[in-house]
Amino acid sequence: MPTVNDTFGRPLRSLRLSVTDRCNLRCKYCMPEEDYAWLPRETVLSFEEMALLTQAFTGLGVDKVRITGGEPLLRRNLPLLIRMLRQNHQIKDLALTTNGILMAEQAELLYEAGLDRVTVSLDTLRPERFRALTRRDLFHQVLEGIDAVNRTGFPNLKIDTVAMKGFNDDEIVSLIEYGKAVKGEVRFIEYMDVGGATDWSMSKVLSQAEILQILTKHYGPITPIREDSSAPAQRFSLPDGTIFGIIASTTVPFCATCDRSRLTADGMWYLCLYAKQGFDLRVPLRRDGTLETIQALITSVWEARRDRGAEQRKALEEEGLRDLQLIDVSRLR
Ligand code: GTP
Ligand code: 5AD
Ligand code: SF4
Repeated sequence: MPTVNDTFGRPLRSLRLSVTDRCNLRCKYCMPEEDYAWLPRETVLSFEEMALLTQAFTGLGVDKVRITGGEPLLRRNLPLLIRMLRQNHQIKDLALTTNGILMAEQAELLYEAGLDRVTVSLDTLRPERFRALTRRDLFHQVLEGIDAVNRTGFPNLKIDTVAMKGFNDDEIVSLIEYGKAVKGEVRFIEYMDVGGATDWSMSKVLSQAEILQILTKHYGPITPIREDSSAPAQRFSLPDGTIFGIIASTTVPFCATCDRSRLTADGMWYLCLYAKQGFDLRVPLRRDGTLETIQALITSVWEARRDRGAEQRKALEEEGLRDLQLIDVSRLR
């Protein structure tokens, strides 16, 4: 399998494919209430274009593809894209990240189309908190969606929870118990200072250390699981064998092993979650569109990659320089 490495020797292995910028929630850490300037329809990639770009990536070493959004289930006829991607045998892992709301209606179709596994985002088990955070009254639909994922037979269900002080720090144990009940692996994500998180402050971050403290107090000693992987989550096991994960990108950045990049629904390719600028793959694709020219472009961009956004963000925070972030991060490179 060919590999392309960036300037720090990190291979290109994992692609996050956003299929729409629309969402049916308005989580406060992600999107403003008022409507965005949504992407113009003609700039949104067709399924054929997405499948072709994905083929360009898998030909260069990508073998993990995750469908994201916005909320991916809002994209019409998503199972068809899954079916098309399934024809690409270089994809070893085809996963979906969803808020779960439309899962009850779509789980079976997605499973039949060949989707491997599903991660559902859920930050609280209290309907009123869910409504306050997401600005929508759709909590029960999410729980129904999670049940549907299980009924359908998807393996390896994961539940992603953004842990925030003053919001859900009193629900860490309840969420683990909920995970046990639905046979899902709960992963706590440290609140990150990205994109729409306009309300972010370090004082709202419930850190990995604090999460472990809460769980140790309740369950007893926790054992880290040793794994040789570039996955963002560090996994742990409780004394009763329950496994959970923590994605500590704020306090323990994992940029050193980051093999991920992101393609937006309009074909902009981002090399880092914190990147301010993406590389346009749509225009070259629509101009002459051969696999070879796209692959040459991807290779040259990845080989020049120097991104390590979370590490830089952390260094700035430690120096008390947050306000300068927008004007000068380059000095940390
Ligand atoms: P698996 O472990 O293979 O299931 O995939 P994953 O952990 O990439 O899945 P998921 O999409 O559920 O990612 C979980 C969360 O981790 C995301 O929502 C982000 O908050 C965070 N995350 C994922 N990738 C990155 C990354 O490259 N950098 C940073 N800083 N955070 C990331
Ligand atoms: N910090 C941490 N996680 C975030 N997500 C979105 N914004 C943030 C943020 N500022 C998570 C969502 C979902 C996943 C797609 O990204 O909660 O689990
Ligand atoms: Fe990768 Fe950027 Fe996330 Fe670091 S911050 S892990 S480089 S995506």
